[in-house]
Amino acid sequence: MGNIRHYLQFKDFSREEYEYVFGRAKWIKDKYKRYEPYHPLFDRTLVMIFEKASTRTRLSFEAGMQQLGGSAIYLNTRDSQLGRGEPVEDAGQVISRMSDLVMIRTFEQDIVERFAANSRVPVINGLTNEYHPCQILADIFTFIEHRGSIQGKTVAWVGDSNNMCNTWLQAAELLDFHVHVSTPPGYEVEPERAGLYGTDHFKQFADPLEACKGAHLVTTDVWTSMGFEAENDERMKAFADWCVDAEMMAVAAPDAVFMHCLPAHRGEEVTAEVIDGPQSVVWDEAENRLHAQKALMEYLVLGQIEY
Ligand code: CP
Ligand code: NVA
Repeated sequence: MGNIRHYLQFKDFSREEYEYVFGRAKWIKDKYKRYEPYHPLFDRTLVMIFEKASTRTRLSFEAGMQQLGGSAIYLNTRDSQLGRGEPVEDAGQVISRMSDLVMIRTFEQDIVERFAANSRVPVINGLTNEYHPCQILADIFTFIEHRGSIQGKTVAWVGDSNNMCNTWLQAAELLDFHVHVSTPPGYEVEPERAGLYGTDHFKQFADPLEACKGAHLVTTDVWTSMGFEAENDERMKAFADWCVDAEMMAVAAPDAVFMHCLPAHRGEEVTAEVIDGPQSVVWDEAENRLHAQKALMEYLVLGQIEY
């Protein structure tokens, strides 16, 4: 509807908007760490719709909205009419008349797109089969905190070409860095599904060790994403050699960091030695969901503010 801004995939924002949001995330985080109240969204309501499980996304949006002075309402498929076949267009019309902001975690990207097309308020993608933009927002904010600008750097993605991988690829085109992807045969990136407009920011590697060579950030995710559980046995076999281990970290840049959106499965996509080791920044990464999304919500509701 109209000119409302939504955040449905990473490329929905420009590079300038990301610069603003990352700056605000730092400002909001610093203030929070000093225990200074900040309530720019006083009296505003966020509705969170979950059609898949979550710990971090629910917690960071709910706590974040409360910390900004507003309130958050949790809806899931089980306890609402969404699970009983109410059209997503109708849900968009109704829910957006009673709230200031909506976050949705669901299956196909098409669902958030259709909801947003019928919404009077901004809609945020809290994870779909195709994308997870809020996570990459937090991941890049975390990289900047630890290592400075990501422009020109190389990210190694080892594992499944899933929603996280697709979003990294979009971010690379927008923020001008490189992604080296290694997946098992048959699980390669599908550029159209990833929403890419060029291919010069990403390269596919058959060997995960090759993908990690010289990388400034090594990252991975579960072998079986939510919604794909029926493929689990097949995937366990196919992905066995795509476990991020010390050997992969050793060929990356000496100051490379390791990230994982979590939840993680030690011994599958990553060894305990790596995820619990000195190069891992996964706890900062998880915490930064809170700060980055507070900046995102503030921007979507209030636009750019002078500070
Ligand atoms: N990383 C992430 O989105 O975690 P949850 O599934 O717990 O929300
Ligand atoms: N790729 C994973 C991410 C979980 C946060 C999934 O979609 O299940």
